[in-house]
Amino acid sequence: MDRLKVNIGKLELRNPVMTASGTFGYGDEFTDFIDLSRLGGIFVKGTTLEPRQGNDYPRMAETASGMLNSVGLQNKGVDYFLSDIYPRIKEYDTHMIVNVNGSTLEDYVACTEALADLDKIPAIELNISCPNVKEGGMIFGISCTSAANLVKAVRKVYDKTLIVKLSPNVTDIAEIALAVEAEGADSVSLVNTFLGMAIDAEKRKPKLSTVTGGLSGPCIKPIALRMVWQVYKAVKIPIIGMGGISNWKDAIEFILAGSQAIQVGTYNFINPTVSVEIVDGILEYMDRHNIDSINDLVGKLDY
Ligand code: FUM
Repeated sequence: MDRLKVNIGKLELRNPVMTASGTFGYGDEFTDFIDLSRLGGIFVKGTTLEPRQGNDYPRMAETASGMLNSVGLQNKGVDYFLSDIYPRIKEYDTHMIVNVNGSTLEDYVACTEALADLDKIPAIELNISCPNVKEGGMIFGISCTSAANLVKAVRKVYDKTLIVKLSPNVTDIAEIALAVEAEGADSVSLVNTFLGMAIDAEKRKPKLSTVTGGLSGPCIKPIALRMVWQVYKAVKIPIIGMGGISNWKDAIEFILAGSQAIQVGTYNFINPTVSVEIVDGILEYMDRHNIDSINDLVGKLDY
């Protein structure tokens, strides 16, 4: 199965298919449905230094071909992760990657330091793109200077694979990618959700307690694909593409646009076995097109 192997920084993935943070819990929620060892990796729920309650309900709303969420990074904090979650997930036979968040630069650095020495966490995904918090999150990801300063600070305390998750809520995502690459990011993952809103016309009220939330699902795929392609043309580091991937064809499109690997997100809620179906579909596609290595397809859009 070497045909599917890809590298992201120091990480070697058995295949390019991973699951996105916030859509796959800590992996254990899915063991009744799939064999986790068939995945290239799992990005676990966003983790912060201190526990967070998240935003008030309602914090989910369905949209045409997608959904809005404003969860607000609900999690029990990094100490709980270390004491209660890490011991149970560290035996999984796939890469477990923690999505790191914070309100301040110091939060991000401290949370990263707490994770840095864990043998079975070979990488972090620095989330500078959560649109659902009042401090931190996307605020860091919408300016080149703040994104670069954060990556510089985290890079100093973390020598494993550092992946930076980018926001699509910017004018030029390629310039943010270039700024984080210059400060030592090993990879960029994109895109996080688009800032959106939904209204209940009868009640004349927003459907989310926070009014706005992050839009994900198949409706965002064409825009996400365009952003991956733009970033691929700008940077040298590997890209992990995501945004509305719901089948193997979508995954191949993201790879052709320049993704070395992909994350499946919202579709896990609709079909919990979609990630392994995508692995199988990619292999069948490679057989049909006589492709020896998935790496031969990355960025090979013919235009
Ligand atoms: O609200 C949330 O927890 C979402 C996080 C994210 O989009 O990164």
